[in-house]
Amino acid sequence: MMALTRRQFVKASASGLAALGLARAGFWFAPSLPYASVKVANLANLEVGKPVYFSYPDARSQAVLVKLGTRAIGGVGPDRDVVAFSASCTHMGCPLQFKNGRFVCPCHYSMFDPAKNGEVYQGLATEFLPQIPLEVVPQSGDVFAKGVEGLIWGRVSNLLG
Ligand code: FES
Repeated sequence: MMALTRRQFVKASASGLAALGLARAGFWFAPSLPYASVKVANLANLEVGKPVYFSYPDARSQAVLVKLGTRAIGGVGPDRDVVAFSASCTHMGCPLQFKNGRFVCPCHYSMFDPAKNGEVYQGLATEFLPQIPLEVVPQSGDVFAKGVEGLIWGRVSNLLG
């Protein structure tokens, strides 16, 4: 049997603990799956204040796109006012409604600001709405969903359901 020096023992222990820490943090097990790029609207068909609902990143996840009429953080289009979010409230997952320029939860009345990354500013929710980054094809005006920033309510992973 080979004896370890004190230095070798400390080095091996530190490596083991670091590996355990990374594994517990999910770095070894979390797959980094790519989000699909999905066409969800066309700029020519959007009206200010009229939400467009779609499923993303999969059929069980309701999302909503809206043209706000005023510039928004992460907004696309000529006026930088088109944004999209998960349509599930971050408190307990109730489906959100778009009213008077904001998302309102009918269950416990949380409100989210779509112009400020989905910031919650009233109610029981404590987390921003997950924002869906959008991309516009200039020639056609087609709007594509490209990912989800934040964890959709009720999920441990946006892509694994
Ligand atoms: S589920 Fe939306 S505030 Fe409770």
